[in-house]
Amino acid sequence: MSQAFASDFDRVIDRSNTSSSKWEKYAGRDILPFWIADMEFPAPKFVLDAIRERLDQEIIGYTRVPDTLNRAFQGWLQRSCNWTVPDEWLVWVPGVVPGFNLAARAVAEPDSAVLIPTPVYYPFLTVPGNTGLEAQKVALQPGSDGRWTMDVDALQASVTERTRLLMFCNPQNPTGRVYSKAELTALADFCIEHNLTLCSDEIHCSLVLDEHARHIPVASLSPEIAQRSISLYAATKTYNIPGLPCAVAVIPNADLRAAFRTAKADLVPDVGPLAIAASTAAFADESSYLPELKDYLRGNLKRLREVIGPRLTHLEGTYLAWVDMRDTAVADRPGDFFESHGLGLSDGAAFGAPGFVRFNFACPRAFLEQGLTRFETAMAALSRD
Ligand SMILES: Cc1ncc(COP(=O)(O)O)c(C=O)c1O
Repeated sequence: MSQAFASDFDRVIDRSNTSSSKWEKYAGRDILPFWIADMEFPAPKFVLDAIRERLDQEIIGYTRVPDTLNRAFQGWLQRSCNWTVPDEWLVWVPGVVPGFNLAARAVAEPDSAVLIPTPVYYPFLTVPGNTGLEAQKVALQPGSDGRWTMDVDALQASVTERTRLLMFCNPQNPTGRVYSKAELTALADFCIEHNLTLCSDEIHCSLVLDEHARHIPVASLSPEIAQRSISLYAATKTYNIPGLPCAVAVIPNADLRAAFRTAKADLVPDVGPLAIAASTAAFADESSYLPELKDYLRGNLKRLREVIGPRLTHLEGTYLAWVDMRDTAVADRPGDFFESHGLGLSDGAAFGAPGFVRFNFACPRAFLEQGLTRFETAMAALSRD
């Protein structure tokens, strides 16, 4: 493989004084940030050039989604997931988080409920409060092979006639699962049986690291599940442009799409022109950037496995490792504990799973090594206490 991007992945960029959410959290304190899900890598030059070219137009006015963005997205979805979707199924939104909140608004009725498998990316857990849906949380289970599974029997036990929606995340943040075709089929059958809408956040789908795993859009399994699905995609994780929010909801059912558009009207702005330029270039990418990025992340994951060992749950996708601290003296507050040793991780409690921490390993190897040294020092202190 060509190594056109490798030196970019090794380059440490000083983000102090850039108003970075990740770095500002610990400004003035000796805590290295490995929490929020943006990468410490530069966006690739072809994406930055597309933004610069758009700036050369001088006026940053109100903007329609151009055909070029639809074509780039459709080509990417076809190449990466073998799923062909027509223009009319697409609704563009400034972010996946607004997208799944709009999905919930679109289906919410008085006294209705939403099923949410947990642990999960924490903005899922604020959707019920935002939309008036009752939360029906269902715990995912860590299996003996370290993979977290979705237990359809547990979903069956929680679903009621008031349930309207199931909120799904695949590849799963924070457990790193990439669900198999059999698991997705069981989930789709469950949604069809109970007449549920399925909202599937697939933002991490380009970041499958395990050679044996493959991302399958759940809505591509059959026309029946497609007709009750809202699938959300974005290029912003993979190309490290989350500050230019741009996402798309793929909604095959015309009524559901109309309800989603109604929920969005006058409340959520259109995607901005710089974000359109960046995401168009990202979706159109067929360079060696992505294979090289995944290779680099696999190297980082190997280092995490060497240092963290079996506490690290089996990860198939994403750059977010899930670390089990439940058998330690700091199980009730592992995030605080690591912060006190200069390591800024995300505490599992926010994801609905106290006793875990999430470790973002998308960073230059040299920076990762600094974090891992602090992890080792913290663990050594723990075993001495
Ligand atoms: C599963 C998942 N969905 C959505 C997002 C954020 O999406 P956006 O920035 O497009 O709202 C993230 C960011 O970490 C994520 O991990």
